[in-house]
Amino acid sequence: MKIAVLAGDGIGPEIIAQAVRVLEALRSDGLKIELEWGLLGGCAVEAAGEPFPEATRKLATDADAVILGAVGGPQYDALPRPLRPERGLLGIRKALNLFANLRPALLYPELANASTLKPEIVAGLDILIVRELTGDIYFGEPRGIEQREGQRVGFNTMVYSEAEIDRIARVAFGAARRRNRRLCSVDKMNVLECTQLWRDVVTETAEEYPDVELSHMLVDNAAMQLIRDPRQFDVMVTGNMFGDILSDEASMLTGSIGMLPSASLDENNKGLYEPIHGSAPDIAGKNVANPLATILSAAMMLRYTFDLESAAARIEGAVKKVLAEGYRTADIYEPGMKKLGTAEMGGAVLANL
Ligand code: NAD
Ligand code: IPM
Ligand code: MN
Repeated sequence: MKIAVLAGDGIGPEIIAQAVRVLEALRSDGLKIELEWGLLGGCAVEAAGEPFPEATRKLATDADAVILGAVGGPQYDALPRPLRPERGLLGIRKALNLFANLRPALLYPELANASTLKPEIVAGLDILIVRELTGDIYFGEPRGIEQREGQRVGFNTMVYSEAEIDRIARVAFGAARRRNRRLCSVDKMNVLECTQLWRDVVTETAEEYPDVELSHMLVDNAAMQLIRDPRQFDVMVTGNMFGDILSDEASMLTGSIGMLPSASLDENNKGLYEPIHGSAPDIAGKNVANPLATILSAAMMLRYTFDLESAAARIEGAVKKVLAEGYRTADIYEPGMKKLGTAEMGGAVLANL
């Protein structure tokens, strides 16, 4: 099993190092994996002049799975748009056809008090956000900033084809079938034609999944409902941009954005695995970032791409134990707990594998 490792920028190298330690520990226990390192994002711009170099494309295409830290940072914000680190990330998602982004928001009971919401609102939280990842306003054309009648005008295009909507809906219905059989599709059909089509197609696809209860919600209400009563949701399915925003919101229900892993999958479960958070430039290089989202992303990789449920559960079990023992990084710290740095948290997971 070939795994491409892309550390990226900011806290990327710090958090990916901890996930790699965990994978290497499983390898010395007999897991047959090969790790190969590559460049994506700002570090790739610095080394190779582009955020998604050909060598990385080849590495990722040849690998069975990719694990990624995060990309981006203020030092790259002035670069021309095609050279931005984020373009590299969008490029690799598109190149590998990773249209299905699974973002589980799961509250570890030990972290019920770490959330900014009351524990009784979030206790037992277990929702799955299925975010479409290769379409929508992220990729729609035309896009740009232009001079029109003496002033600058910025524009992007929100666009989805029915094939794109149908295939992500099938992923979401399938996931709901393996969970509590409830799917909420999130759109803005009261204003946007693109999402009217979204609602129509999801409703049509639902005919093939009569055992799953489908509901629809407008995105502004969904944002509010996630905070009011998040446990009303089982699986949520939505487009690229709404999914980006709602998943950051959902992460805080679990205590910290540093806890949320993700899988980005193609039709054959080849995948890229990364925490949902970014490169956190404000804390980079300080050994304080929470590596658990990245370590849990490695677990998702073993489950989804390699079908190694027990190895995945072993990692998740170790994370649970570490939390139960009271170990916390700064983002989930509460008085009375034992505060650890990034590398020490990685070490604690290793010790409990
Ligand atoms: P961010 O997710 O990097 O950080 C938001 C806040 O959360 C910060 O205060 C940060 O310190 C904190 N945080 C994030 N991850 C953490 C962790 N593991 N442990 C503890 N705290 C953590 O979002 P941002 O600041 O808006 O973006 C910073 C850069 O990252 C930008 O360049 C952005 O484009 C990029 N970005 C990349 C990805 C990705 O690579 N997938 C995702 C989001 C943002
Ligand atoms: C994410 C990030 C990316 C996105 C950016 C960095 C391109 O926010 O993975 O959630 O918007 O998809
Ligand atoms: Mn995001």
